Amino acid sequence: MRTACSVRAIEDKVFQGLLLCFMGYVNEYVFMVQARGIQIRENVKNIGAQVLEQVVRGAYSNNGTDYVYDFNMSESDGPPATYLPEGFTYLPSQVCPERLSSMKGRLEVNMSEVSLEDVERLLLQGEPHMAPGGYWKPKDCVPRWKVAILVPFRNRHEHLPILLRHLVPVLKKQRLQFAFYFIEQEGTEPFNRAMLFNVGYKEAMKDLDWDCLVFHDVDHLMENDRNYYGCTDMPRHFAVKLDKYSYMLPYNEFYGGVSGLTVRQFKKINGFPNAFWGWGGEDDDLWNRVRYANYSVSRPHGDQGRYKSIPHHHRGEVQFLGRYSLLRHSKERQKVDGLNNLNYSPIVSRRPLFTNISVSLSRKLAPIADY
Ligand SMILES: *[C@@H]1O[C@H](CO)[C@@H](O)[C@H](O)[C@H]1NC(C)=O
Ligand SMILES: *[C@@H]1O[C@H](CO)[C@@H](O)[C@H](O)[C@H]1NC(C)=O
Ligand SMILES: *[C@@H]1O[C@H](CO)[C@@H](O)[C@H](O)[C@H]1NC(C)=O
Ligand SMILES: *[C@@H]1O[C@H](CO)[C@@H](O)[C@H](O)[C@H]1NC(C)=O
Ligand SMILES: *[C@@H]1O[C@H](CO)[C@@H](O)[C@H](O)[C@H]1NC(C)=O
Repeated sequence: MRTACSVRAIEDKVFQGLLLCFMGYVNEYVFMVQARGIQIRENVKNIGAQVLEQVVRGAYSNNGTDYVYDFNMSESDGPPATYLPEGFTYLPSQVCPERLSSMKGRLEVNMSEVSLEDVERLLLQGEPHMAPGGYWKPKDCVPRWKVAILVPFRNRHEHLPILLRHLVPVLKKQRLQFAFYFIEQEGTEPFNRAMLFNVGYKEAMKDLDWDCLVFHDVDHLMENDRNYYGCTDMPRHFAVKLDKYSYMLPYNEFYGGVSGLTVRQFKKINGFPNAFWGWGGEDDDLWNRVRYANYSVSRPHGDQGRYKSIPHHHRGEVQFLGRYSLLRHSKERQKVDGLNNLNYSPIVSRRPLFTNISVSLSRKLAPIADY
């Protein structure tokens, strides 16, 4: 199976068909298994992951050469990190520690639906420091990082309060300065997650000189509060182990779900591509951009990278079938497609817990020569 899937000489269309067919099979299989609550046997999981990785890697390589494969799967973070002891005190004039005693590790995840108003009440109660836009900074120490959380979405309003209820207390425990930017795509064009991130970034930078950008799917809920959203180890892929992928990384270059870059890095790589209409591929393109800039992506250690995802079915959002051919030209496109060719006219308003950026997207807003 592995050999058959890694043949790179297969003609493009056939190859893509095969790939989609295969991915469909895996998704369906995983779904079936999950639905029945059956534990996938270890060997089946490994074969699946290997084949998928091989296929996807094959699809990306330009002329048969693989990427330099320097990511160390065994985690090079060294020995398990130590956290500050209970009762450790710090001064308001000191920079906030990164590994606070309040970060206990495993978190309960509550996916039950809740109204935005209830979450606003819950999170603002006795919280004088939160300003409109979900803007918060610690008062008992000097925040180490200023983190803008960017969340693109469409047709998922009910996920917003669930995410906020879960994430706001964690970011406070991590003693970060932060705010939330929810970027909603209007109009009838296919969903363009990447372009929404570019829009969110540009709008966020009008508020503050943020240091770190966290690119966050609306349905991803972290399971461990030691998954630190500061930018110590950027570029970073935060969502390493997802429940919907049986807590396995689907392939080594996977950069989806929740990822992060410093603002400097994001500018250097010209942001996300704008040319990915429909879901899939834009995160892989970002990975390529990061690699071409000679950055290497870090990941949280062990179970710190676990996430649960709120179940849904891409609700009518179409897949982007052209992604594999675009990905072959990541390098050439990078210079001409991204932050530098983007025009848009958003409607921006402040809610207590987030900035609401509503934007209609179309291809003519990000003109690009045909690659
Ligand atoms: C493509 O392959 C040739 C030789 O087969 C090699 O010299 C070249 O560096 C490769 N290009 C890339 C982008 O890997
Ligand atoms: C990964 O990193 C660890 C610790 O730095 C090292 O011992 C190990 O040899 C590395 N593995 C690979 C495949 O590079
Ligand atoms: C989950 O959230 C709902 C609605 O806010 C709440 O009623 C319920 O008690 C929560 N469950 C847990 C386990 O915290
Ligand atoms: C990345 O590293 C390669 C090899 O060392 C070098 O040729 C290239 O110029 C570097 N790229 C950037 C963007 O620094
Ligand atoms: C955000 O703003 C748009 C445009 O004003 C509005 O239609 C939408 O309901 C708002 N979304 C939220 C979650 O407040």
